[in-house]
Amino acid sequence: MQKKNFITGATDGIGLETAKMLAAQDHKLLLHGRNPAKLKAAEDILMEISVSGRFDSYISDLSDMKDVAGLAAAIAQDHDTLDVLINNAGVFKSPVPTTRDGLDIRFAVNSIAPYLLTKKLLPLFAPSGRVINLSSAAQASVDLSALAGSGRLSDSSAYAQSKLALTMWSRTMGLSLKGKGPAVIAVNPASFLGSKMVKQAYGVAGKDLRIGAQILYRAALSDEFASASGQYFDNDSGQFAQPHPDALNAQKCEEVIRTMEAVLNRALEKQ
Ligand SMILES: NC(=O)c1ccc[n+]([C@@H]2O[C@H](COP(=O)([O-])OP(=O)(O)OC[C@H]3O[C@@H](n4cnc5c(N)ncnc54)[C@H](OP(=O)(O)O)[C@@H]3O)[C@@H](O)[C@H]2O)c1
Repeated sequence: MQKKNFITGATDGIGLETAKMLAAQDHKLLLHGRNPAKLKAAEDILMEISVSGRFDSYISDLSDMKDVAGLAAAIAQDHDTLDVLINNAGVFKSPVPTTRDGLDIRFAVNSIAPYLLTKKLLPLFAPSGRVINLSSAAQASVDLSALAGSGRLSDSSAYAQSKLALTMWSRTMGLSLKGKGPAVIAVNPASFLGSKMVKQAYGVAGKDLRIGAQILYRAALSDEFASASGQYFDNDSGQFAQPHPDALNAQKCEEVIRTMEAVLNRALEKQ
């Protein structure tokens, strides 16, 4: 059965590769990018692959929380239902590491934007829906004041903390929605896949991006992930696995969520 999939960061890397796999099976795609020219180029590639060739495309800078709220509103205006949301967009290094909202860009794009997007789009999902969140093997304990915008972290610390924050809210939200849906699942797509992020961050060519796209395709559509809400899939080991211990600590997860809520209240109220 064809599904309606919304992929953030569909302009490059694992996101574009996943969009290609879904388009090849003629699934309906909602594409997101921040750069209009790159989004158009992605559409052109996908148009060649898809049978029906119909895509809805959305532009939004996920480092700006008002833009994220606007993206969710635009999707909800155009669509009554959504089967799959793949929160794929992510950043490791940036020439400007602090956002307009005063946040570390890794926390903004990798943790808080997908949280806001998911919460706003929840009403569009049936219980059988899926939210797939791109986690990582890089996970480190979250400094709550850094998450709230105080102090500066190194690129690798900010990235690892942002991926654990994402994994923590995925678990809490996933467990709370279990049986009611959608299933919220954190997935490490495998380490060192050959995207521009990996080339910039680690200076290595990296492995075949299709390794990541294949696991996202399975997580989005296959039965084996249907009852995995709240779980963490580690594609380095090829199985569901334990995330960082902090993600199994309900109190720590609540603290991260409370901090993100406070950040969002501040960012969305600001003129
Ligand atoms: N590659 C790996 O080995 C690996 C391992 C573990 C986890 N991951 C995760 O997988 C996801 C995809 O990463 P990738 O490796 O495919 O990297 P990538 O090729 O750099 O793709 C990242 C995507 O996110 C978009 N993006 C970045 N900042 C954005 C912003 N402020 N607003 C909107 N979109 C933004 C990029 O847009 P542009 O095209 O405009 O740059 C691009 O589409 C990330 O969440 C990453 O953390 C990757």
